[in-house]
Amino acid sequence: MSVKKRILSGMRPTGALHMGNYLGALANWVTMQEQYECFFFVADWHALTSDYENPSGMENYVREILLDWLSAGLSPEKSTLFIQSKVPEHAELFLILSMITPVPWLERNPTYKDQIVQMQNKDLSTFGFLGYPVLQAADIIMYKAQGVPVGVDQVPHVEITREIARRFNFLYGPVFPEPEAILTQTPKILGLDRRKMSKSYGNAIFLSDSPDQVRAKVMQMITDPQRARRSDPGNPDVCNVFEFHKLYTDPDTTAQIDTQCRAAQIGCVDCKKMMAVQLIRGLGPIHEKRAYFQDHPKIVDEIVAQGNRNAREVARRTMAEVRAAIKITY
Ligand code: TRP
Ligand code: SF4
Repeated sequence: MSVKKRILSGMRPTGALHMGNYLGALANWVTMQEQYECFFFVADWHALTSDYENPSGMENYVREILLDWLSAGLSPEKSTLFIQSKVPEHAELFLILSMITPVPWLERNPTYKDQIVQMQNKDLSTFGFLGYPVLQAADIIMYKAQGVPVGVDQVPHVEITREIARRFNFLYGPVFPEPEAILTQTPKILGLDRRKMSKSYGNAIFLSDSPDQVRAKVMQMITDPQRARRSDPGNPDVCNVFEFHKLYTDPDTTAQIDTQCRAAQIGCVDCKKMMAVQLIRGLGPIHEKRAYFQDHPKIVDEIVAQGNRNAREVARRTMAEVRAAIKITY
């Protein structure tokens, strides 16, 4: 019998997930369930590090993201799905790790510097925001995860996690394995306006969009920007609509569209209509599951309650080892 490797990942609950989030992270998680022992959690405390001024939306966002996860195919039979704040051991481990983490490691964290510049509208000069990677390290090593599926932007945090684990083991004896980042491919798809797909740009197609909404959004998509007239040949290589065809339309039809576009034998309106049909078909099972879970909120509650219990059980065992290692067993 082969023992499955354990992986863990989390998402901050900041609103409904869009196609970029789905193709860039969630779809990978769904596939990884077959191969790994999986822990996936809603990082609500992490959301608080930047949105502490207005936590009123959090409860809804947590609910939304859980619905998105379950509709996309994360399954309680295959994975432990839980909420960070329901496993308060994360806070205890965060505290202990904060004792041994040198501040310069956090100050030179590239995402820290970037975010402070990018989010000028928020005051991020807080202790909690600086300590974000320490909390993330606690999340990861609590479960002794060997792999952490993340996008490139999160690699520095996994690197800090490895350093913290190493330092803990050096000071108190071997307790934690050093996790490795498992890089997930980020999709080439863009938002409707060709900028990066993002909730805050208002250019996103959400997993929870109805077929009508999806169709309307697809029709608004900017195609090959060089193709001004129907009679101009297009270039599928730079067309966002075509990226979706590659993912959702069968390969023969996609190849045909490629040829016809370059010869101006197909117009963008028709091409989009075809793509919308395929995308809506592809999202069908997700929409069906969402409808089911929306109609059965108790089932969602039970799934999460069970996930929280599983996670907490593991966390309790780890904390017993941690307390023994740091001699706080009295
Ligand atoms: N920082 C991650 C993000 O913004 C979310 C996160 C929190 C996470 N804790 C984690 C990801 C642990 C992986 C493992 O996307
Ligand atoms: Fe893009 Fe299709 Fe228009 Fe070609 S025909 S530019 S692939 S939308």
